Amino acid sequence: MTTEESLGHAVTAAAEEFASVGIATPEVDALLLAAHVLGISRGELAARMVSGYNFSRDQREQFGNLVRRRSAREPLQHITGEAGFRQLVLAVGPGAFVPRPETELLVEIVVDAVMASGQPSPRVIDLGTGTGAIALAVATEAPHARVWAVEKSAEALVWARRNNETHGNPVTLLQGDLADAVSLVGECAGTFDVVVSNPPYIPAEAVPRDAEVRLYDPALALYSGPDGLDAVRVLATVAGGLLTPGGLLAIEHGELQGSAVRQILTDAGWRPVSTHPDLTTRDRYTTGVWPS
Ligand SMILES: C[S@@+](CC[C@H](N)C(=O)[O-])C[C@H]1O[C@@H](n2cnc3c(N)ncnc32)[C@H](O)[C@@H]1O
Repeated sequence: MTTEESLGHAVTAAAEEFASVGIATPEVDALLLAAHVLGISRGELAARMVSGYNFSRDQREQFGNLVRRRSAREPLQHITGEAGFRQLVLAVGPGAFVPRPETELLVEIVVDAVMASGQPSPRVIDLGTGTGAIALAVATEAPHARVWAVEKSAEALVWARRNNETHGNPVTLLQGDLADAVSLVGECAGTFDVVVSNPPYIPAEAVPRDAEVRLYDPALALYSGPDGLDAVRVLATVAGGLLTPGGLLAIEHGELQGSAVRQILTDAGWRPVSTHPDLTTRDRYTTGVWPS
């Protein structure tokens, strides 16, 4: 076997190629793809690199194919078929929005609210669930909660159903428009303790620069009218019909949308309304309480 086929060399060359095409985390992506090809964790991969492991010819070829796909800006998560989210590994692929690390903090807000509610069986509903990420994370971390989720896209629902099955079907999945959530949940309307949503919030003209987002995340998951806030306006009116008095609405949004989202919620009667920062101090989540 030649030097060119050593694992370390292949990973370094892939990282250089990724950097040259503008991928934000070239080393991490190269390592994750190598670990995927070998079917091992990143820790085990590091050990093999130190010990001078060589790819077999088949592994080298497979790695080369995946590197070419990633260099063409196919999302890493579509190539490996999975995304880590909170404590979960979720199946992801074409037709569904890839769950993002920043949404993990939205889950924390919801889990904290569920725990603080003191209810023996609190109810949570996730509007626009995509792969089921928020709903499944809440159901996993607050197993006493009863969790519902609504999704409009049939393609995304395929992934949500698959992930729900993998995790023991803890979430009641409903297909439909979030605008119709009150009728979708029937007699459960008015009984939820938390409504959570990471809705589409990009202004229609603000097409994302990253090819992974622009070309692979579904348009329904990204765009929401001229200012990106059409879905938030719908949430502000619909969520009150879902919640019990004193229930919480928690919404993720863009870093420059905090004050506009606060205004929308305040105008719709939510009190108090507050915006929360992410780990990089950017305003990314706004909560409102449905008055008693
Ligand atoms: C930004 S993605 C978030 C997906 C998932 N909650 C997450 O955090 O990974 C927004 C999701 O809302 C769904 N969606 C958009 N408009 C909707 C609507 N009117 N009714 C229901 N779902 C909608 C999209 O299909 C997409 O799955």
